[in-house]
Amino acid sequence: MTYPQVGKGFFIALEGGEGTGKTTQAGLLVEALRGAGQDVVHTREPGGTEGAEAIRKLLLDPPAGGWGIRAEALLFAAARADHVDKLIGPALAAGKWVVCDRFIDSSRAYQGHAGSLGDELIRQLHLAGSTGLRPDVTLLFDVSDVNVAERLMSRDRGRSDAIGGRDPAFHARVREGFRNLADGDDSVIIIDGNGAPELVHRSVMAALKPFLEERD
Ligand SMILES: Nc1ncnc2c1ncn2[C@@H]1O[C@H](COP(=O)(O)OP(=O)(O)O)[C@@H](O)[C@H]1O
Ligand SMILES: [Mg+2]
Repeated sequence: MTYPQVGKGFFIALEGGEGTGKTTQAGLLVEALRGAGQDVVHTREPGGTEGAEAIRKLLLDPPAGGWGIRAEALLFAAARADHVDKLIGPALAAGKWVVCDRFIDSSRAYQGHAGSLGDELIRQLHLAGSTGLRPDVTLLFDVSDVNVAERLMSRDRGRSDAIGGRDPAFHARVREGFRNLADGDDSVIIIDGNGAPELVHRSVMAALKPFLEERD
């Protein structure tokens, strides 16, 4: 899957279930890249543009009755289409780095695998919405269920959004879905996210080192 207008920038997505440290690590990564003099766009999904942030609100705080899994997958695809069209695509075309907190692999793990829509359907939606754009590198944070539960307890204190608040069996399927995605795809790098933030950050920089050297 390609995005023909793009070629010069470098696109990194951070993926994993709730509480695996994506947002923490995205911040540390952006700081490190900017410190090294790179022009970096730091963004997140769902969201990143005004339209996509409006869809984010619909997804995370849905109208009474919630969304069915198909409507949910379409809303994610629509938010991503706007995000790629207005922010990510132009940034990459201008030669910038893009660091994105969640991208297409979250849809594959949550709606495709845990939500049982299947990978092919999610890929088709992504092809229609965002010409199938893939990150150059996807960092997949894997953290034990015990550590995730502890972190979410202290971060959220029992409050979670419509997707984060689903039952543990759903989140176990999400984790399984993410792990499956890494199989046979060299652009997906699994990072052990169990250590302290600085330690995990070092693993991130070590994983990216070959790409950083290539772009120097
Ligand atoms: N390596 C880590 N060790 C311990 N706590 C962490 C670590 N990384 C993040 N946290 C904390 O765990 C919670 C979830 O991290 P966060 O970055 O928000 O995860 P995500 O964005 O994947 O949901 C936050 O309160 C954060 O401060
Ligand atoms: Mg986060």
